[in-house]
Order: sequence, then structure tokens, then C-alpha cells
Amino acid sequence: MLKDKKILLGISGSIAAYKSAFLARELQRRGAEVKVVMTPSATEFITPLTLATLTNHRVYSDFTEDKDTGEWTNHVELGLWADIFLIAPATAQTLSAMVNGAGDNFLLAVHLSSRCPVMVAPAMDLDMFTHPATQKNLKTLQDRGVDVIEPESGSLASGLDGKGRMAEPENIANHLERWFNARAPLHGKRVLITAGPTHEPIDAVRFLGNRSSGKMGFALAEALIKAGAHVQLISGPVQLSHPKGVDELIQVETAQEMYEAAISRIEKVDIAIATAAVADARPANASQKKLHKHELPEAIQLEQTPDILLSWGERKSPHQIIVGFALETDDGLESAKKKLSRKNADIIVLNSTLDPGAGFGTDTNKVTIFEKGGKTHNFDLKSKSEVAQDIVNLLLNKVKP
Ligand code: C5P
Repeated sequence: MLKDKKILLGISGSIAAYKSAFLARELQRRGAEVKVVMTPSATEFITPLTLATLTNHRVYSDFTEDKDTGEWTNHVELGLWADIFLIAPATAQTLSAMVNGAGDNFLLAVHLSSRCPVMVAPAMDLDMFTHPATQKNLKTLQDRGVDVIEPESGSLASGLDGKGRMAEPENIANHLERWFNARAPLHGKRVLITAGPTHEPIDAVRFLGNRSSGKMGFALAEALIKAGAHVQLISGPVQLSHPKGVDELIQVETAQEMYEAAISRIEKVDIAIATAAVADARPANASQKKLHKHELPEAIQLEQTPDILLSWGERKSPHQIIVGFALETDDGLESAKKKLSRKNADIIVLNSTLDPGAGFGTDTNKVTIFEKGGKTHNFDLKSKSEVAQDIVNLLLNKVKP
């Protein structure tokens, strides 16, 4: 996933430049924003118009915008904008110029002034690639922290066969994804989330339920995946599309099923978040078949369901972080604080139905977050994705490396 990554794609003058159009497309398909810088010779292989059309951004290849007025292009800004500068294809000439700190074309000037990490995908003939000068240049760049995407073997434009072809766009995009993942703040952390309502059967067709939409839990799953975590999501019945990138989506109906899925997975995770609006009680004598009108009881006897968050708290090991939610119809401050200690949670996220736009079903939420140890954070009304990001930011301060 390259969602919201800003990628500055540098194209130098190789026949492999035609593949850069596919690469730009692939990066965007995976969620990245792409801007393109070209060397003058690259513009002879593929037109800036093609890349500008594909990326929805103007292409940069010259220092001056307008030779008459002297208006110039700011190469420093591009380097500051990008999360990564990917030069694909990188010719032997461009690699050599990068080693020597040359700045005599726009792409090279961007390279010199950029503060972001740099990645190169070399493309050249096999003998140029194995030449000691090129190998030494690549080694020098690697020693400076430049990441090299190895070229692939196959037939080359020269008619020869061997190693030198630029890596395929799909493979470059995979490489970038791995690169970003390895640097994501929650890389390698495992997170378990419960989301949505539960449905407790009265008979074969009727149930007790609540109005939870699951949106908060799903937004949290997305934010955590973006931060590099491995997410297992246990969801009650919701009308939401599956969040992309979850390791496991476990769909359940009842509190008992959610409890079993949650308890069997808790031991292996670093963070557990209970956003689900689990039914607190279920009909004690649910019928297996549909009850006819005349068979319906006058009163339904209820029994309590297991409390998942409480059970997580009882099993909590020292490295784990446990987050609970509290939905209240009053201001809920006192009960949220009590919940923090009673359920042995590290964080309780409180939302109150008193706040317009907060709680069940809405796309927005207004929360107060209580941390174990006494810290309280008040937030404004925000989209559930933004609330999720606030919670992830708090978690980043709490997780142990
Ligand atoms: O005690 P209360 O239901 O108000 O606590 C709410 C928190 O506990 C939420 O995080 C909810 O997901 C969790 N919970 C649970 N299992 C239950 C009831 C609530 O995990 N049976």
C-alpha cells in the first residue's frame, strides 16, 4: 500500500523510460501521488505530455519556466515535497553524475537539493552494468544511503541478453511498498480490533441488537495498517466494505462468537482495541426455529454476555496495550475513568451522545481520551478517520520498540 505517499519519479534517458509511464500508473493505483522530473534526453524517449496526463501534475525538466521573463522552476521545493525520490530508469550516465555531485540538468539539481531518501532503478546494457566504473558508482551511492533496485535479466535493446533491464514496474512498486513498510512506525506490531454490533438471537429470525455501524473500528483498522501494523479485525454484522490490507477479517454474529475469536487471538498481539458495541445481554432461551406470533413469550429472559474487554484486561501481559471505548448518554467522565481501572485498560476513548455528531452510525465523532496514569485529551468533532489517526498517534507514544 502506497496510500498518500508522495513519490517524485525521476526519469533519465534510457529506452526503459517508456516503462516509467506504467510505473507512474502502478504507483498511483496503489494510492501514491506522483510528480515527474525528467532529464532532457529522457524527453526524447517519452513525452512530458504523456506523464503529465497520467499523473495529473505538470512535468519538470528545465530550470527556466519562461526564458523571456527569467521565471524559474524551484528544484528545492520538489525535493522537500517528496517522501522519496525514485529515479527509474537511472542510466549509467545519471548514476555517474550523481556520484560526482553534478547539477547540470534539472533532475540532478533536484537530487543535490533533496532531503528525502533516494532510490534508483538502473537500466543499461549488460556490459555497461558490469563495467567496474558503474559497479563502483552503485557501491558509492549505496554507501551514501541510496537504495538500488537491482536490474533484471533478459533481452536488452542492444539485442544482447543479460542483466541490465530496468526492473518491471510491478516489481519496483513492490520494492517501494516493502521499503515504506519497513520504516512505518508500527512495523511488525500486531493489532486485534473488535468492531460493530452483535446480534443475539431471540429465535431463528429475530435478534436483539444495537445501532453500531462499525465505522470507528474499521477506520482504526485502516489507520493502523497505514502505520505498518498487522491487523486482525473481528467484526459483527456491518454494512461496510472490507478494509484493504487486513491480515484477517473474522466475521461474527453474537457476543459469544466475538468473545471466542477475541480470546483465542489476544495472546499473540501487541495492541488490542475494543470498539465493538457488544450486546451486554442475550435471550437466555433462544428458539432454534421461528416462533409464530402466538408462541412469542410475553417477556424475554436475559442473561449476561461475556465482557471481552474485561477478559483481555485479566489476561494482559506487560508489553500489551489495551484500548476500550465508552459510549455514554451523559457526559460519562467519571464512568470512563472507572472503566479504565476496572477493565485494566491503558486507554479509554469516551464518546457521548450528548455531543451532536458523535457516537453510533455517524461519520464523525467527538472523543475524550483517558490514559492510565491520569492524562486526559479532549478532541473536537472530527471525521472517524481523523479520530482514528489521533488514537494511533497516542499509541505511537506508548508502544515499546
Ligand atoms: O462496560 P461497557 O460496555 O460500557 O464498556 C465498553 C467497552 O467494553 C467497549 O470497549 C466495548 O467494546 C467493550 N465491551 C466488550 N464486551 C462486552 C461489553 C463491552 O468488549 N460484553
